[in-house]
Amino acid sequence: MAIVTLHSLDSHQDLAIDPASIGGLRGRITIPGDKSISHRSLMLGAIATGETIVQGLLLGEDPRSTAACFRSMGVEISELNSEKIVIQGIGLGNLQEPADILDAGNSGTTIRLMLGLLAGSVDRFFVVTGDSSLRSRPMSRVVKPLEQMGASIRGRKGNTLAPLAVRGRSLKPIHYHSPVASAQVKSCILLAGLLTEGRTTVTEPALSRDHSERMLRAFGANVEVDPDTCSVSIEGYPTLTGQTVIVPGDISSAAFWLVAGSIVPDSELIIENVGINPTRTGILEVLQDMGADIALENERTVTGEPVADLRVKTAKLKATTIAGDIIPRLVDEIPILAVAAVFAEGTTIIKDAAELRVKESDRLAVMADQLNRMGARVTELPDGLEITGGTGLQGGELDSFTDHRIAMSLAIAALNAKNPTTIHRAEAAGISYPEFFITLKSICQE
Ligand code: S3P
Repeated sequence: MAIVTLHSLDSHQDLAIDPASIGGLRGRITIPGDKSISHRSLMLGAIATGETIVQGLLLGEDPRSTAACFRSMGVEISELNSEKIVIQGIGLGNLQEPADILDAGNSGTTIRLMLGLLAGSVDRFFVVTGDSSLRSRPMSRVVKPLEQMGASIRGRKGNTLAPLAVRGRSLKPIHYHSPVASAQVKSCILLAGLLTEGRTTVTEPALSRDHSERMLRAFGANVEVDPDTCSVSIEGYPTLTGQTVIVPGDISSAAFWLVAGSIVPDSELIIENVGINPTRTGILEVLQDMGADIALENERTVTGEPVADLRVKTAKLKATTIAGDIIPRLVDEIPILAVAAVFAEGTTIIKDAAELRVKESDRLAVMADQLNRMGARVTELPDGLEITGGTGLQGGELDSFTDHRIAMSLAIAALNAKNPTTIHRAEAAGISYPEFFITLKSICQE
């Protein structure tokens, strides 16, 4: 049996991993473009005036959903590829009423950020929906502040779930104190704030990723940040001008290789062109604290975002505690950090991470259940996980629950298990990392 095999079953794929013959992971890895920056480049390109060029766009399902939505609102976007795409901006406030429902697919970023722009598109009507996962995720976190700005939004379960119907209205600026540290909430309100006369401010309990702030500034908006209070302000109706955006590799995708390279014996990987925006580098800090051997090389800045190549070598990991303000800086990496913790000596505690319950799946419940099926010792906490590591993993028959980060995290766990593993619905990886399995195969040494 080959080390990594994919079997197609109608629309689903099973991934089989046989760890017995893996003699380490080696190679140079190019990772796909950052998902957050890809979405934002499409959206800001759409609402700016003039041409925006995007290089390195992520070709996963999520940005494809964003591109499809904006195309159906009259924005010309060239065929998607990772080399270079061109967006003909239609100008702020000019999104057209689509002839049909807007489908955000699996993407929380698409629906939540887009709602900010739709809410202020005066006199136009929009219906937005998504797949079954997205239709179960909370939308009140953006509907409430948008209503405070004067938006008209109706949806299932008291306007909290998609499908949502939006009648665009003239909005007013607000100062919103968000109960959650969420870049999606913050960005939604900032985008709505573009369509108001005045200054809109968002204050969060901890700093979330700041890609919107950086890119809005680069396109010409007046954005002010107060890091001490975790507040961001934006002035309405700026002149937004199309730009060239070079999308760095996604550190959330690099995270799988950082953990794989750390836990699989005799490994050394170089991951090229990784975005190391400080609002995203919690994963590096935690892995280094756990004893990982990770070096940053060739650090540089590319169109406003810091980038480096990362070198990782096998290391003995020890347990840690992950809690508090660092959580938003590694929120998408908690499933793969749970895998690292399984192979670390001692008991790792993850707290303050209740947000994981409302991601593409309930990532706390799913990771605890799936890792325990492999023989791990994981206890679910209301807002986290307690993981006693160092006992090794058996193989198992697992499921992604259609969550891309679960599929990839379990695949990495399987590389270091004692017996073969099968992961059902592994194709979910394509949401953020279409080439994941090809890369995985290419770095496995026999
Ligand atoms: C994202 C923000 C995060 C993250 C998601 C992408 C973004 O969500 O989990 O994958 O691009 O703004 P929250 O803002 O809901 O924490």
